[in-house]
Amino acid sequence: MSPFTLTRTLPVDATAAALRADVAHGLTRSPKQLPPKWFYDARGSELFEEITGLPEYYPTRAEREILRDRSGEIAAVTGARTLVELGSGSSEKTRLLLRALPRPAWYVPVDVSESALAGAGRALAEEFPRLSVHALVADFQSGLALPDTPGPRLVAFLGGTIGNLLPGERAEFLAAVADLLAPGDALLLGTDLVKDEATLVAAYDDARGVTARFNKNVLAVINRELGADFDPDGFDHVAVWNAAEEWIEMRLRARDETTVKVPALDLLVHFAAGEELRTEVSAKFRRERVDGELSAAGFAPRRWWTDGAGRFALSLAVRV
Ligand SMILES: C[S@@+](CC[C@H](N)C(=O)[O-])C[C@H]1O[C@@H](n2cnc3c(N)ncnc32)[C@H](O)[C@@H]1O
Repeated sequence: MSPFTLTRTLPVDATAAALRADVAHGLTRSPKQLPPKWFYDARGSELFEEITGLPEYYPTRAEREILRDRSGEIAAVTGARTLVELGSGSSEKTRLLLRALPRPAWYVPVDVSESALAGAGRALAEEFPRLSVHALVADFQSGLALPDTPGPRLVAFLGGTIGNLLPGERAEFLAAVADLLAPGDALLLGTDLVKDEATLVAAYDDARGVTARFNKNVLAVINRELGADFDPDGFDHVAVWNAAEEWIEMRLRARDETTVKVPALDLLVHFAAGEELRTEVSAKFRRERVDGELSAAGFAPRRWWTDGAGRFALSLAVRV
């Protein structure tokens, strides 16, 4: 078995403090909103994995198709010896990339979900002899620092997760990633593409209700961590296409008027009947926007691949 280490780069109380700050801010503003990273406790990570296998959720299959066809080319163009993956989750599709890298190689998965990192990291260390796995429990949006592993580095940000950041956050995030890299290092970015509304909405509102359970999991996280008394059955899962912004919004809509106690914050949160809490945006992209945002952050776009049906894109860009 190859080496596997897991490092928490956040101080012990940082996650709790960040959750308290996000809940205090997001539930007292109008309209109410929360950042999507709070979905991903152990249960949320399991539910996300279940979503990736749903018939309606095409992004995972489409991105896997591109990686299957292009991983050899990605490895050859980048010459990467270290693969850093942000928001790595189960690292399931990443295996296609890891198989293509020359040996020995280093893999640095980064995620807020310690359970997902531990499960994926141990399995990869067994599956890939001569791969050193250095997992980081960290927030990729805040003060990320990478371990000292050999270059060139390739940073992968897959799954369309970049779409969960708002436009200003995306610019800040991409500039911060560029700062972590040396000239010649590369970024592999997965983006879901603009398409018809019915396909998009179905991907976030599946017939079996798995995405609804995933969405409501954030209420369970707040109940457990902050002693709140959200009744998940009192909220409906809502997925809508915002055509002006070109993003899907996931929301939780209060069925009736209700007041929720959040004892850890000494807070009462009032919901009117029908009031919505936005829990995620998932932006959909066109090539010009992706290339423009990469260039503005200090990357030179080099390749653009889509799956055969043109639903999802992978971009390869080099740090200039
Ligand atoms: C949409 S899932 C994608 C998972 C995987 N990359 C894929 O393509 O299937 C987003 C992943 O990013 C992680 N994540 C979300 N926000 C994060 C943050 N701010 N910092 C680190 N990880 C985060 C989640 O725990 C989850 O594993």
